[in-house]
Formats: sequence, structure tokens, C-alpha cells
Amino acid sequence: MKKNVKTNTCLIPLQGLGVVPGPIGIFDSGYGGLTILEKIRTELPEYDFVYLGDNARTPYGTRSFDVVYKYTLECVTKLFEMGCQLVVLACNTASAKALRTIQQHDLPLLDANRRVLGVIRPTVEAVGAMTKSKHIGLLATTGTVQSNSYPLEIQKLYNDVIVTSEACPMWVPLIENNEYLSKGADYFIRKNVLHLIESDAQIDTIMLGCTHYPLLEDKIKSLLSERIQVVSQGEIVARSLVDYLQRHPEMDERCTKNGSIRYFTTESVEKFASSASVFLNDEIQAEHIDLG
Ligand code: DGL
Repeated sequence: MKKNVKTNTCLIPLQGLGVVPGPIGIFDSGYGGLTILEKIRTELPEYDFVYLGDNARTPYGTRSFDVVYKYTLECVTKLFEMGCQLVVLACNTASAKALRTIQQHDLPLLDANRRVLGVIRPTVEAVGAMTKSKHIGLLATTGTVQSNSYPLEIQKLYNDVIVTSEACPMWVPLIENNEYLSKGADYFIRKNVLHLIESDAQIDTIMLGCTHYPLLEDKIKSLLSERIQVVSQGEIVARSLVDYLQRHPEMDERCTKNGSIRYFTTESVEKFASSASVFLNDEIQAEHIDLG
């Protein structure tokens, strides 16, 4: 987790705005969070959502703690300004490197009634219960692997489970550039997956610890024996959000429910709309947003 937090002088308290219900914010560095959003909307079709992809600055996975924290905080603040009372970081890298600091340091300054949730804890809760051999493999960005967040969270809940991690720095760029079906992509996918299972032959469960990776799920499975299960996060995070809203009716009341969705990107709207349609299998309209 981030240490030596510097006070962000740009933070403007939002409490004065009062509690006005709003959409649920879903954030990712790029398109990956769409895999989570899709499953969340299946579980919660009546809710309103705002998706924010920081495509202009993706990937986050190879960036430092300070930079990921700064970028994530800017995006969360923007979603708050758009009226979101609840934001989900649908990005493992941001959840690993920024969530704790935002929850503990920034939320009390911005608006202590709003909430920011991540994807690592619910994934760990689910996956730890799925392994029989007690050996789990993690495929994730360099940033998520270096943060050690997954092994640390697993240790808290399942101290008999061993996590072996494999950083896959090429995967997000290949997906963001729509090259993930190419032969070049096959080379990198094979290299990382085989290295992971060679590192621990007892792995029976592999977590896809990056929200971009569900697009590679079939390719990953084709490299593995059937005794190894591959787990994507979308349904896990969606069920966890449903559970959260049931346990927090005061937050549920602050989420508007007209079944709407708006997509915002820090990059070109045309590029976002065409790539997002690959993730969602659907045509979408995107809007540009400046974070400054
Ligand atoms: N989808 C993000 C994640 O889950 C990708 C991070 C990146 O931009 O490298 O980690």
C-alpha cells in the first residue's frame, strides 16, 4: 500500500453539495472495467451507471504507486463531481495501489459519506474457497503483482493457501490495441501461462487478476489441462456489489434507478466506441471528458 501520503492540495470538499442520489461510477484505466460493468448490469439492470475509462493514460499496470494513486484519485473525484455516491474501481492495479489510500486519506476530506470499493477483496474471498489443492495462480499486471495485494489478502482469509503470481506486462497493451487475437499475442499469452504453471505444478485454480483478461480466457484455457479452473472476476464482483447494497440500504437509497448508462473516456470518443463494442458486443455512444 502507498506510504508517505502527500496532502493533495487540489481536493475540494464535496459535502456542501448534500446527498443527492446519483449513478454508480465504474472506473478503469481503459476498457477492462467493461467486463465488470457488463456483469454488474446483468445483476442490477435497474440502476444507473457512469463508466469512466482513462484511456489516454492507460496502461496503469507498469506505472509507479504514486502515479497510479494520483490518476485514480483524479478519476474518482471526477466521478464524484458527476454525482456518483458510490464508485467501483473495476481495475486491479488501481485497487492494489490506490484504493486503501483513497479510502483512508482522501474520502474523509472529500465526502466521508461516499464510498469507493475495489475488486481484490471480493475476488480473494471467492477464489480462496474454490481451490482444493490450496495452490492458486495469479495472472495480473506488473503493478498488481509487485503490490503483493493478492497474496496478502489471501493470507488474511485463507492462511493455508499459497499464491504464485505471474506478471503479464504485454497483455493490456495487446488488448487495448485490439491485437489480442494475433499470433504475436499468442506468443506472450503462452509464455506467461506456461511459466506460471511451471512455477507451481500444484496450482488447480488460476485467478485472472486484471479486468482486461476475460477477453483472453479461451486462449488461456486452451493452454491448460482441464483440472485447472480459470476464474474471471466479473460475476464475483457483481454479486459482491449486490450483497454490499443489500447490507447498506442507506447507500442503496443514494443510487438512482432508471436503467441508464453513460460512457466517458479521456481519449477519443470514436476510438473508445469502436473498441468498447469488442468488449460489450454492442454499439455504444461515448463522451469525452477532461480531468483537469
Ligand atoms: N484493467 C486493469 C487491471 O485490472 C488494467 C491495468 C492497466 O491499465 O495496466 O489491472
